[in-house]
Amino acid sequence: MKLLILNGVNLNLTGKREKDVYGVETLDDINRELQAHAKKNGYSVDCFQSNLEGELCTQIQNAEGKYDGIVLNAGAFTHYSLAIRDAIAAVSLPVVEVHMSNVHAREEFREKSVLTEVCKGEILGFGKNSYLLAMESFRL
Ligand code: DQA
Repeated sequence: MKLLILNGVNLNLTGKREKDVYGVETLDDINRELQAHAKKNGYSVDCFQSNLEGELCTQIQNAEGKYDGIVLNAGAFTHYSLAIRDAIAAVSLPVVEVHMSNVHAREEFREKSVLTEVCKGEILGFGKNSYLLAMESFRL
């Protein structure tokens, strides 16, 4: 099994921004842990982050045929990117939406995700372990 972990806008600042919400570990730290976990369990993950909506769409498009699934934390794009939503709908591979924070316990604008409807499922609120749980969901 091969998974793609995709992180969107501002997630490159993980470990530096709003540490009380997103924790103190950097995205590189988290990605290293996810890769080690995957290796230990006999599968592999590639990690990609971009602040650009179109780059994320291209990654989703190109993942078809190369990966068995995508774990996607689109950051704030979650709440309004119809382009990412359409990219997910355009590919046949499953996408699991992830958020480190519990978006339902925060500002009202975070309540709405335009992505969930076209995703296989959603995992949120478990910090960096949201990624881990999403990865493991592909093994159930
Ligand atoms: C986030 C939640 C989003 O609302 C926010 O814009 C982010 C991170 C999360 O992981 O909790 O950038 O996706």
